[in-house]
Amino acid sequence: MHSQSLLDTTSNKLDMVQKRTLLIVDDEEGPRQSLRVVFKDEYNLLMANDGNRAIELARQNKIDVAITDIRMVGMSGVELLEHLKAVDPAIEVIMLTAYETVDTLRLALRLGACDYLNKPFDIVTMRKAVASAMERRSLGEEIRNNGQQLQELQKELQNQKMVEEITRTRGEIYASIIHDINGPLTVISGFIQLMNQRICATSRVEGEDLDFVKDRLKTITRQVTNCIEISRRYLSFLRQNSDDSPPVGVNHILADLRDLVCVHPSVRENEFQIEPLIEDATVKINGTDLIQILLNLTINAFQCTAEKHAVGISGRLVPQPLDLSGLSDGPEDRLLNREGFRNSGPLLALSVKDTGPGIPAEILPKIFDPYFTTKSSAQGTGLGLNVVQRLIREAKGALHVHTRIGEGTTFVIYLPAA
Ligand SMILES: Nc1ncnc2c1ncn2[C@@H]1O[C@H](COP(=O)(O)OP(=O)(O)OP(=O)(O)O)[C@@H](O)[C@H]1O
Ligand SMILES: [Mg+2]
Repeated sequence: MHSQSLLDTTSNKLDMVQKRTLLIVDDEEGPRQSLRVVFKDEYNLLMANDGNRAIELARQNKIDVAITDIRMVGMSGVELLEHLKAVDPAIEVIMLTAYETVDTLRLALRLGACDYLNKPFDIVTMRKAVASAMERRSLGEEIRNNGQQLQELQKELQNQKMVEEITRTRGEIYASIIHDINGPLTVISGFIQLMNQRICATSRVEGEDLDFVKDRLKTITRQVTNCIEISRRYLSFLRQNSDDSPPVGVNHILADLRDLVCVHPSVRENEFQIEPLIEDATVKINGTDLIQILLNLTINAFQCTAEKHAVGISGRLVPQPLDLSGLSDGPEDRLLNREGFRNSGPLLALSVKDTGPGIPAEILPKIFDPYFTTKSSAQGTGLGLNVVQRLIREAKGALHVHTRIGEGTTFVIYLPAA
C-alpha cells in the first residue's frame, strides 16, 4: 500500500500503526527466528511458541496474517486455526507442514487456511505467500467496508425518501384532516340545530327539554373529542411519531359507529344493520382510525345511490392467515396492501356491504386515488377511500373490495387481531 521510501521517512510510531501485523506461531525456536529475520522490517511481528499464547495475542491485537506450524506440542496448528478464525474470521492463516497427510491439509483448507508451505521453506516462496495473504486480507477488508458504506448509503437514501414522501403527502394529509373532521362536524351542527329548534321558543329549559338538551350535548362532546383526536393522530403522523396505541375492542367501536351513522343525513330511509361480534375481540389499531375507516366506508355505502337500499356491517374472526392467491385484482375485485399486510392469524374481518348499483370495472382501479369522486362537489371530495387506504396500510391490515353491477359492493377490512 505504502512505498518503502515513504515508510522510511515516517516515525517508528507511525510505522507501528500503518504496518500490517503478522503472527508467527511455532514451538521450535529455529523456524520462528528465521521467519522473524525475514519479516521484521516489513510487518509488525507477534511471536508465539504455542497455540494458547497465539490465541491470547489474537484477542489483544488486530492480526492480519498468521503463519502457524501444524505439528506443535499441545494445541495443533489445525486446532489453532479454528480458534483464530473464531476470534476474527478475516485473519488469513498460512500453515507450515512437514509430514502431514493430505487429509490434514484438506481439513486445514476447509477450515479456512489460505495456503500451506512445506518445511523447510524457501524464503522467496514464503515472502510471496505472506504477501498474497496480506493482499487478500486488505481486499476482504475493503469489500466489507464497501458493503458497510453501501448499507449506510441505502439507509440515508431511505430517510431521504421518507422526507420526500412526507413533504409530498403533507398537502394530502391536511386535506384528509379537514375531510375527516367534516364527519363529526356534520353531526355536531345537526344536533345544535335540533336543540335550537327544540328550545328556541322557550324561555326556560326544564323537564323533558332539559333531558333532550343534556343528551344531545353528550353526543356533541363526544364528536368534539373525536375532532381533536383526528387532528392529533394526523399531526403525530406528520411528525413521524410511531403511535403504539393499545388494542381496541371491536364491539365498542361498532356501538360508537352506530351512534355516529344514525344521525348522518345520508342514511335517510335506507335500511341499516350492524351485527357485532358474538364474542368481542380486540384489534391492533388506534380506535379513532378504525372508526374513520368504517365511517368512510359506511357513508359511501349510503351515498352510492339515491334509490332505497340496504347497508350492513358485520364482523367475524378469521383464525388462520388468508389465502391471498384467491384474492387477485380483477374487474369485480381489488385487494389493497397485499405487500404490507401482516397476514398471520388470528385476523379480524369487518365487512361493509351495500345493495347499491355496484362499481363499474373502469372506475374500480381509481376509487382509492386522492380526489377521485363520481359525486357532485357538494357531496364528495374523493378523499374518503384515500384516507381509508392510508389508515389500513399504517395498521398493516388489508382491504378487499368485491363489487357486482346491479347487486352491490362489499368492502372487507382485515386487521391483525390482538
Ligand atoms: N359502496 C360504493 N358503491 C359504489 N361506488 C362507490 C362505493 N364506495 C365508493 N365508491 C366510488 O368511489 C369513489 C371514491 O370514494 P371516496 O370515498 O374516496 O370519495 P367520495 O365518497 O366521492 O368523497 P368523500 O368521501 O371525500 O366525501 C366514489 O365517488 C364512488 O364513485
Ligand atoms: Mg366517501
